[in-house]
Amino acid sequence: MKLNTVTIAIIFVLTFASLSGGAEAETIRKRKKDTKSPKASKTPRKKGKACKKVKSYKASKESPLDAEGSRLDGIIEALVKCQDFSSYCQDDFMVAREWFLDVANHPTDLPKDDDEYKNYMTERLILALTFSANCKDGCTLPNNWLSAKDHCKWTGVRCFDTSQQIATLNFTRNGLSGEFTFFGMKSLLWISTDGNNLSGTFTVAGASNSLIILSLSGNKLSGFVGGKILTNLVSLFLDDNEFKDDFIITEENFPTSIKGLLLNRNKLSGFVGGKILTNLVNLHLEENEFKDDFIITAENFPTSINILWLYGNKLTGFVGGKILTNLQTLFLEGNEFKDDFIITEENFPTSIKRLDLYGNTLTGFVGGKILTNLQTLFLADNEFKDDFIITEENFPTSIKRLYLSGNKLSGFVGLKILENLEDLFLDGNEFKDDFIITEENFPTSIKRLYLSGNSDLTSVNADAGMVSQLRDLELFGIEGITVTEELCNRRPGLTIYPDTACA
Ligand SMILES: *[C@@H]1O[C@H](CO)[C@@H](O)[C@H](O)[C@H]1NC(C)=O
Ligand SMILES: *[C@@H]1O[C@H](CO)[C@@H](O)[C@H](O)[C@H]1NC(C)=O
Repeated sequence: MKLNTVTIAIIFVLTFASLSGGAEAETIRKRKKDTKSPKASKTPRKKGKACKKVKSYKASKESPLDAEGSRLDGIIEALVKCQDFSSYCQDDFMVAREWFLDVANHPTDLPKDDDEYKNYMTERLILALTFSANCKDGCTLPNNWLSAKDHCKWTGVRCFDTSQQIATLNFTRNGLSGEFTFFGMKSLLWISTDGNNLSGTFTVAGASNSLIILSLSGNKLSGFVGGKILTNLVSLFLDDNEFKDDFIITEENFPTSIKGLLLNRNKLSGFVGGKILTNLVNLHLEENEFKDDFIITAENFPTSINILWLYGNKLTGFVGGKILTNLQTLFLEGNEFKDDFIITEENFPTSIKRLDLYGNTLTGFVGGKILTNLQTLFLADNEFKDDFIITEENFPTSIKRLYLSGNKLSGFVGLKILENLEDLFLDGNEFKDDFIITEENFPTSIKRLYLSGNSDLTSVNADAGMVSQLRDLELFGIEGITVTEELCNRRPGLTIYPDTACA
């Protein structure tokens, strides 16, 4: 099957945007008064209430249906036979059935080929079933839903160019509420119910082996059931919902294919059984209610994790992380780590390349040398003060970017140990009087040095020939700062901000 390139582009953009947590502002689409929809039953069933479930369905033999109606009835029977309808209410089913059997509700130019006709009409039926089960109580699905138009032209529905099968379903901000039941479709790649008011459990009722992205962000969900039948699911977005306590992964509910799992902005304090997700790469647990030690066990975490997001919790420790032998990026900013941050071989894998610790109340960084691959270290906005001292025991030489902004430092004793350092952020500290770039403390590899906001500095000097790679020197927000001739006149490649610093 040939995919429409536009659709592919959308899927990629979505995956990327959502994995990095971005969401664009959107306008709410109002549903017009003249909406043509399945005749609502006189007393609409309140969602979530118990109801009589669909057990089976037999196409009627003696009914007043004409040939076309009978053909449609056969499609209903075939669908009920091959999909699990045990969570579907009989009343909702009958509403969708009534709409579906009325030939006037369908386009006139239906596919001629029998298989194509069946595929097309089956998906149309699934849309009607999805609508009658899930769109209630003020739901604002667009007014062209359930019109007699080709459903590929209904708002939020996109089909493949060639096959006319549904590729994406967009229910973003449609005023859906209560529980939601998702029915599978043959070639669906992506579905979003972001930004609705769904609550309780999201149920996957029909297999959709093609589905890659299931996006349920920004609702009030507290449960997810049946996901295992989505055997090729890559990204599952459950962020900004109401999951709490332990998030429990079971073999029955989650496919092993998941690579990205977003659980940020819930109320979780545990993650259990995650080992089942043997392909998980990106795990978002930030802004939850994890506290004290974050404990990695082989039972609960797969070794495949590459990026682990834990910022904005109340953690004071990270234990057993060594199990995560593929971990490259670890976000621990905005937690409650204090005093020394201690790296031990038991608790940290050497694979880490980026470690974010800003916004804690640290005063030391101990044992970091173990992290032989570390390139980026964020220690900004902590409580480091006086001299920041680099020792061989505590810092690996691999570091390229060191963020120390917003502390209370007045000295940097680097001993040239960080021989790969390119970016050094010392802005917003308490350096004063003369800042001297000495041969002893600053490696020649430094390309950018940030000293802005150290308002008590009066001058910046460099020993002759030092930091020959330096390209940017930033000194914003320091009244009357002066820079020596060594830096101002003998470094053609160096830019000093602001340039008035050179007398
Ligand atoms: C989904 O719908 C929302 C709201 O109508 C819209 O802003 C967004 O761009 C849509 N996404 C895609 C991929 O079509
Ligand atoms: C969302 O659903 C809850 C019940 O789950 C209801 O109390 C609330 O009014 C709904 N909010 C909106 C904006 O529809």
